[in-house]
Amino acid sequence: MSGLLEITNLTAGYGRIDVLHDLTMSIGAHGNVGLFGPNGHGKTTLLRAISGLVKARSGSIRFGGAAIANQTPRSIVGLGLVHSSQGNRLFPDLTIGECLALGAYTPRARAQEEANRERALKIFPKLSERWNQKVRTLSGGERQMVSIGTALMSSPAMLILDEPTLGLAPKIKEELCRAVLDISAGGIPLVVVEQDVEFLLELSQHLYLINHGQVAAEIKPGQTMDHADIMALYFGQ
Ligand SMILES: Nc1ncnc2c1ncn2[C@@H]1O[C@H](COP(=O)(O)OP(=O)(O)OP(=O)(O)O)[C@@H](O)[C@H]1O
Ligand SMILES: [Mg+2]
Repeated sequence: MSGLLEITNLTAGYGRIDVLHDLTMSIGAHGNVGLFGPNGHGKTTLLRAISGLVKARSGSIRFGGAAIANQTPRSIVGLGLVHSSQGNRLFPDLTIGECLALGAYTPRARAQEEANRERALKIFPKLSERWNQKVRTLSGGERQMVSIGTALMSSPAMLILDEPTLGLAPKIKEELCRAVLDISAGGIPLVVVEQDVEFLLELSQHLYLINHGQVAAEIKPGQTMDHADIMALYFGQ
């Protein structure tokens, strides 16, 4: 069965350097996909290429059958493929309410704005308590909530998260992990880059190890894996 998101022979990079080399991956036929791998090997670049933020030099990306490689980020979001940018990429002078409203800019999302807001605030009740607070005054964890909440306002048919718990203290990290699991339980398939292997295993049915801009290993749905197996893959044993 082919996935909702099909990446075939993708090459992408910056300037003269290719970061992703002929990468092929199928996403979303069997639940959530987790991506992991060493720092600097192209995980974020892959997510950004999928979202139209980094140019695909060759290869194809198809979402729900539509060719999306090198489409504008706006049109890709319009199709329901939504990337939650890291919390530190939000506009500092906007309030939480204004950020969430920005997430509803596509026609598809505008039609469901009310229901999407309700869902985002149910997952992150803290956001309604602080509705008029500016992003610049929020903690790292709260910014991450705004970022994911804003993505939920775009009516995602698939949601992409890049290290949603990076740098968070244990208590707030736990809150974010629970929220991400809730989003998944609500029926939105996820593509998640995450360094916390325990969380990644809990969340994902299908995993890919990204190394040197390529798929170095795949853990298929139904294949059982524990922390030690992942570490062995990671360190090439
Ligand atoms: N805007 C950019 N311009 C030039 N090179 C970049 C840019 N962004 C990333 N790179 C380079 O691309 C390579 C892959 O970076 P990328 O951020 O995709 O890795 P990553 O796997 O997400 O790493 P991490 O685990 O640290 O987040 C790195 O060598 C990085 O220096
Ligand atoms: Mg990264």
